[in-house]
Amino acid sequence: MADDTLFAQVLDPAHRADPYPLYARLRATPVARQSDGRVVVSSHAAIRSLLHDPRLSSEDLPPSRRPRTGNPIRDWFLNPIKDRIANAHRPLIFRDPPDHDTLRAFVMAEFGIERVRALHGRVAGLVDELIERCRGRSEVCLVEDLSYPLPVAVICDLLGVPEADEPQFQAWATQLATALEPDARADETTRRANAATFDAIAAYMRALIKQKRRHPADDMLSGLARPAPGRGRMGEVDLIATAILLLVAGHETTVNLITNGMLTLLRHPAELERLKADPERAPRVIEELLRYEPPVHFRTRKALGAIDIGGTVIPEGTPVVLLFAAGNRDPARFRDPDRFDPDRDDIEHFGFGGGLHYCVGAPLARIEVEIALVALCRRLRDPKLLADPPPYRLGASLRGPERLGIRIAGI
Ligand code: HEM
Repeated sequence: MADDTLFAQVLDPAHRADPYPLYARLRATPVARQSDGRVVVSSHAAIRSLLHDPRLSSEDLPPSRRPRTGNPIRDWFLNPIKDRIANAHRPLIFRDPPDHDTLRAFVMAEFGIERVRALHGRVAGLVDELIERCRGRSEVCLVEDLSYPLPVAVICDLLGVPEADEPQFQAWATQLATALEPDARADETTRRANAATFDAIAAYMRALIKQKRRHPADDMLSGLARPAPGRGRMGEVDLIATAILLLVAGHETTVNLITNGMLTLLRHPAELERLKADPERAPRVIEELLRYEPPVHFRTRKALGAIDIGGTVIPEGTPVVLLFAAGNRDPARFRDPDRFDPDRDDIEHFGFGGGLHYCVGAPLARIEVEIALVALCRRLRDPKLLADPPPYRLGASLRGPERLGIRIAGI
């Protein structure tokens, strides 16, 4: 019988700094029914199987469990458009086939390796510039000084948002990510602020798309806005939803991987030194980080039919929480799973999810985080954590430190 209080504790901010002992206890019942009807899945094998099961929907999240939250951004992503124009506005992360596949094909066509490679120089330049700004200081906050500003600048570049609008974008990205957390505040003041943000970002995107249609450039938004041979043209509303999704999905996640990455390396100084001496190790280090300290801890789906998983039946209509971060440390799949070991050869993590919704931004995220971590290890002299554990942001699903103070002897 599953301990019903365990997942509630996962959501409790008191456990944010180290939820892994709770995950280990949850794995004792890999498919666990909660008293509120949800099922929490925590073993590697069950998560992997469900990620590839077409009976799990990302679209049809049950309205009864996803009531109008009073938070318009979140409602917009999850519910209301369905009532109005049959799902036409939701971004692809909340869509099932065939719509999901059509939308994803548009994005994939614009996420070619050339576009990602072209961002390499820009990322390296930005990282250098951000580190250079810390010259003369004896303490830095990794989040504020580097991991926060970097991904938003990269997404602006990717989409073709003018540089002057980046600070505005950063503020929007933060507000959107906060509003989308399962435990987001929904009081009247927050609701109004979120409504204003949403209106502002949608209006901004609409205007930018119009401009890209008139004067296409070599950026992703121009590419998405032009008709593609064989696929036609993405409608304006889907285009706005996609642009906002790219901002939300690509920002906070990358921030957290850089911050979690540096925190983990500072806790494992020998690994930090090895990476500094041999930057070729970076891809291994990053894959292990995506397993050991992933930014996305869980995602929720809904069972479209009854699913028998390892002898436990998930009834039709059940919301299913795929606890990626617990699967990533499953001793049935990984040797010594609580050890950070970039040399392991058995990394098959859920850091970027899996199956149909596997992260489209994974190649970009890998490049970005690699450049940032290697530069930080090489350029921050004698770095030491100021507080361990650091304070964490509220979110349980998108988990990462709010600040990461580091004392340095210079750069
Ligand atoms: C999907 C993680 C960076 C765009 C996902 C999913 C995960 C994830 C776990 C699967 C969600 C699900 O199954 O419901 C991450 C992490 C990142 C990162 C850890 C950084 C370290 C990015 C970037 C972009 C991006 C940089 C784009 C600029 C997307 C999109 C989806 C997605 C559009 C939805 C794909 C679909 O539904 O088919 N990401 N992501 N991500 N990610 Fe990422």
